[in-house]
Amino acid sequence: MLRIAVLVSGGGTNLQAIMDAIDDGKITNARIVTVISNNAGAYALERAKNYGVEGLLISPRDYPTREDFNVALLEALLEREVDLVVLAGYLVVVPPIVIRKFENRIINIHPSLIPSFCGTGCYGLHVHEMALARGVKVSGATVHFVDEGTDTGPIILQKPVEVKQGDTPEVLQRRIMEEAEWIILPRAINLIANGKVSVKDGSVRIEE
Ligand code: GRF
Repeated sequence: MLRIAVLVSGGGTNLQAIMDAIDDGKITNARIVTVISNNAGAYALERAKNYGVEGLLISPRDYPTREDFNVALLEALLEREVDLVVLAGYLVVVPPIVIRKFENRIINIHPSLIPSFCGTGCYGLHVHEMALARGVKVSGATVHFVDEGTDTGPIILQKPVEVKQGDTPEVLQRRIMEEAEWIILPRAINLIANGKVSVKDGSVRIEE
């Protein structure tokens, strides 16, 4: 049984999609053991509570140094014997000590088709503002492993979503969540939980 930690900063609709997929049997061999937020006001913590899973607040603000925060986060994951870390709208840079300890065991959902509209500063609504400013006709979402770069890790799954005339960043964001993020994030977790995902030479291979 894969032990999952979901790291969140905000509303937690992707967290909800994971919890629903577990309940519906779309994700098997996995369970969420903890939800960790850097933000006390994150509605995602409320979702964790409603689901009956631990919600932890681990914020850089509550530690004297960044190093202390990094260690606290790593220890929380190790104490709970976490197998897979899922970044679901987590707005904190994951510390290198955590990335090294969890090599190819941290995944992130990004709301564009990487390598478009990704990298430093590309998060939240900015991603969709950039896509609209560039005038792309298709955007989408990507689930990838997390390495020490920003959005540079091996890509696991991607799903395209149509950009429509008159879209605002908010409208496009919602469509990408509904049509891509909430589908491919649970799907990727299910594939990993069932041993179907491997990484070779920086590329992901999925067993059929
Ligand atoms: C999503 O758009 C995700 O792709 C991005 O942050 C947003 C999180 O939304 N990285 P939610 O907290 O899951 O509702």
